[in-house]
Amino acid sequence: MSRIAVGYLDKTDVSLAKKIAHKWQLAYIGDSASVTKHPNLLFLLQVNFQELELIKLDEPKLGGIKVDFVDGAVAHRRKFGGGRGQDIAKAIGLKHGFTPHVLDATAGLGRDSFVLATLGCTVTMKERMPIVAALLENGLERAKLNSEVSDIASRMSLVHAATIEELAFTQQPDVIYLDPMYPHREKSAAVKKEMRVFQSLVGEDLDADDLLEPALALAKYRVVVKRPSYAPPLNDKKPSTSIKMKKNRFDVYVNQAIPKNN
Ligand SMILES: C[S@@+](CC[C@H](N)C(=O)[O-])C[C@H]1O[C@@H](n2cnc3c(N)ncnc32)[C@H](O)[C@@H]1O
Repeated sequence: MSRIAVGYLDKTDVSLAKKIAHKWQLAYIGDSASVTKHPNLLFLLQVNFQELELIKLDEPKLGGIKVDFVDGAVAHRRKFGGGRGQDIAKAIGLKHGFTPHVLDATAGLGRDSFVLATLGCTVTMKERMPIVAALLENGLERAKLNSEVSDIASRMSLVHAATIEELAFTQQPDVIYLDPMYPHREKSAAVKKEMRVFQSLVGEDLDADDLLEPALALAKYRVVVKRPSYAPPLNDKKPSTSIKMKKNRFDVYVNQAIPKNN
């Protein structure tokens, strides 16, 4: 058996757990309690009353991680965040009164995508890891059923793909957003529990440099790359401009100016 399997906590979740295992071609163990019979497993994707959560089996105290667009950090940011004045909005180019179609080519847990969709953007999320894509899809499906965020979620879609070249668009995306994993400097104790589970699953995106050129070739207006402050630019390519924050920065590569009357 592989190192990751899908299970359910409650019998009402049997069909969803089976569907997820089948769709993402992951092993299925049935009742999560039977995990003890599979000592080689590292991670469990558990359906917990319709919510899919990822558990690191050798560090259960870290808790499960899930995509939650309704409560938690992204919901807080939706209500109290800085709107179009926040740095990500400036980097994407929203201050020009323009709400682009953004391709988030490294979607992860979809938090940045959700912020952009909250600001009115249409967002195509691209994620290559089946486990992460499964978490994302489950979070998106639940958000679409919630009256508070369903209109935001309806602007978001997910594609499971590893390269920009394999995507088919009827219209080229206005902006491409990249936030690949970068080797972390912080000692693990300083990294939030949730991020430790995510980092141990995804590892480092060592091929991240390869994302930039195809993104520049496809984006109509610009490519935005999120980098830790101490990291060199992606593919060592100097950006047109950067927006610096405390721990991170957005490197902006401009293909063409966003028209003023857009
Ligand atoms: C740091 S996380 C992104 C976090 C995200 N911005 C958020 O707000 O939740 C990077 C993600 O990009 C994915 N990724 C890296 N390279 C990719 C590629 N070439 N195609 C698709 N996904 C990729 C990784 O699997 C990982 O889930």
